[in-house]
Amino acid sequence: MGYKISIEKTKKSRIGNVDFNNLPFGRNFSDHMFIADYYEEDWHDCRILPFQNYSTHPALSSLHYGQAIFEGMKAERDADGNPIVFRPAKNFNRFNISADRMAMAQFPEELYMNAMDKLLTLDRDWIPTAPKSSLYIRPHMFATEEFIGIKPAENFRFVMFTSPVGAYYNRPVKVFIHDQYIRAFPGGVGYAKCAGNYGATMLPVREVQKMGYDQILWLDGVHKRYLQEIGTMNIFIIIDGVIITPGLDLGTILDGITRDSIIQLAEDEGYVVQERDISIEEVINAYYENKLEDMFGTGTAAVLSHIGEFHYKGENYELPPVEEREASNKLMKRLTDIKSGKAEDLYGWLHTVPVGIYSNQ
Ligand SMILES: Cc1ncc(COP(=O)(O)O)c(C=O)c1O
Repeated sequence: MGYKISIEKTKKSRIGNVDFNNLPFGRNFSDHMFIADYYEEDWHDCRILPFQNYSTHPALSSLHYGQAIFEGMKAERDADGNPIVFRPAKNFNRFNISADRMAMAQFPEELYMNAMDKLLTLDRDWIPTAPKSSLYIRPHMFATEEFIGIKPAENFRFVMFTSPVGAYYNRPVKVFIHDQYIRAFPGGVGYAKCAGNYGATMLPVREVQKMGYDQILWLDGVHKRYLQEIGTMNIFIIIDGVIITPGLDLGTILDGITRDSIIQLAEDEGYVVQERDISIEEVINAYYENKLEDMFGTGTAAVLSHIGEFHYKGENYELPPVEEREASNKLMKRLTDIKSGKAEDLYGWLHTVPVGIYSNQ
């Protein structure tokens, strides 16, 4: 079924207020946004508007009971200046997987892509061109039932907006491996990109940040022993030349799109990649045997971020200098070159926004 998108363009662009040479992550918002509302079992009122606030009912069910999910993608410009987006179909799939887990309405793929293409065409001047910068695309959906009482909602709002961003981390990351708090457990919602997964980590993250760390590297919720992921990134370890990352089978971590891409690129480069359980003891033993070559995180926001140091049970462990980390540096370059259209897109990962997408279709 075709969904029509109406477009109301902004009368006055705010782009002149933004310093594109100094883009903090997630603080600037482009001129337009997309909204669609779900009621009577279908999506209605699909519209692009000037970026603006909306009002909410005090009993808005997502604010009380947490039916809220989101995604994150990035757009850059190719050599001809056209907007390109990295693997948006995979983000779309994950969006609906999250929606399913949270008992929310499925969103149609054609509408998701069309809304994204139109927004990027309208706001193409907001796509930064400086190295390490891009236009972050944030789709999200929340329950809009105006009702007090716990039941799956039947009304939802889908919103997509964009934000020009610079680098998420500007230096190697310091992570704290927690042996008290946990993020997810089998049977839970770890694999979904739902708001509550992030809300539950705010207190532990604030505590470790006060101690000088950037993020938590989570251990599994059952044994508190196996590495899981970082709050915004999947985790990779290189021990004795082998690249290891936790598997997805327990459903406790996010099926990261950057993770999937790095695994593919690493295999292409001839590295051995293992998706398997990796315990903190194995990492620490490798450290003392001088076999722990690298630890890094991967994510859309953070791309590939090296871990400079990790903390576990009162000890700090320092990783080798970033310049010495040949494999991850090579993989980061491969990935950023593909994302920006500089390297050949062997796997059809890049989505190019079609020209002439302004029409109200
Ligand atoms: C908890 C968590 N893990 C991993 C990732 C990395 O996933 P992706 O590479 O798809 O951005 C993210 C970011 O989306 C995240 O929030």
